Amino acid sequence: MTAPHTVTPLDLGGRTALVTGAAGGIGRACALRLAAAGAKVRAVDRDAPGLEALVAAAPAAAGAVEPHVLDLTDLDAAEDLAAGTDVLVNNAGLQLVRPIEDFPPDVFHTVLTVMLEAPFRLIRGALPHMYAQGWGRVVNISSVHGLRASPYKSAYVAAKHGLEGLSKTAALEGAPHGVTSNCVNPGYVRTPLVEAQIADQAQAHGIAPERVVTDVLLKDSALKRLVEPEEVAEAVAYLCAPSASFVTGTSLVLDGGWTAH
Ligand SMILES: NC(=O)c1ccc[n+]([C@@H]2O[C@H](COP(=O)([O-])OP(=O)(O)OC[C@H]3O[C@@H](n4cnc5c(N)ncnc54)[C@H](O)[C@@H]3O)[C@@H](O)[C@H]2O)c1
Repeated sequence: MTAPHTVTPLDLGGRTALVTGAAGGIGRACALRLAAAGAKVRAVDRDAPGLEALVAAAPAAAGAVEPHVLDLTDLDAAEDLAAGTDVLVNNAGLQLVRPIEDFPPDVFHTVLTVMLEAPFRLIRGALPHMYAQGWGRVVNISSVHGLRASPYKSAYVAAKHGLEGLSKTAALEGAPHGVTSNCVNPGYVRTPLVEAQIADQAQAHGIAPERVVTDVLLKDSALKRLVEPEEVAEAVAYLCAPSASFVTGTSLVLDGGWTAH
């Protein structure tokens, strides 16, 4: 007779997690999920009121949520803040939808800094403690755009493809030290970042804003709905669980079948 199957809830009691971009959208959902699992969460964002709202939303019984107001373009401060973390969720991001010939070079630089160089510096800051204790989890919130390109998103697609490479390299280096590194790759998630790009997309594609979700965002998705931030946070939680300890150097895709094409 086989042993009964038991499901162990995620227990991050005694662990410290750092989540970037925690003031809104996916990062907020991740911070709340990891706190609910008992982690002490360093919630990092440049949006101070958003962090205050997150702290207020965290259930009293959950692990503490510590707000850290920081602009991640301050790379030295980001690296310092990552010291001593057991779980690192690189999530902060921004988007600009423009053809390459109109894409402002300074915005390209900022996108690459926040979405690729800051994750590198945060991983760099977090690894010594993770290696010393022989356990750590790095979860990089990538995107379908880490695996596929779309027109008018040069900086975002470049940053996410770079993040995929960084994540895989961290997986190879971290493996002997008990540290896993993976990406989570959502399709379009119901967050302010997506809502903000609808007008931009409408202009770039020359269509009405109400057609953007169906005709542009979900055009290649077999499942015709946006993903919820809590569904992405659950994938992050899975990657932190003991049952995922053999999962490293990969990309967990939540795209409603987009990349099945
Ligand atoms: N929303 C989607 O459809 C979707 C799909 C795939 C991947 N993603 C990725 O998920 C992550 C989160 O996206 P979201 O949709 O929750 O976005 P969001 O705009 O709701 O949240 C992003 C957060 O990052 C913060 N941030 C941006 N620049 C920062 C900086 N310089 N310093 C500190 N904080 C900064 C913002 O203040 C914000 O709170 C991003 O990496 C994004 O690329 C989103």
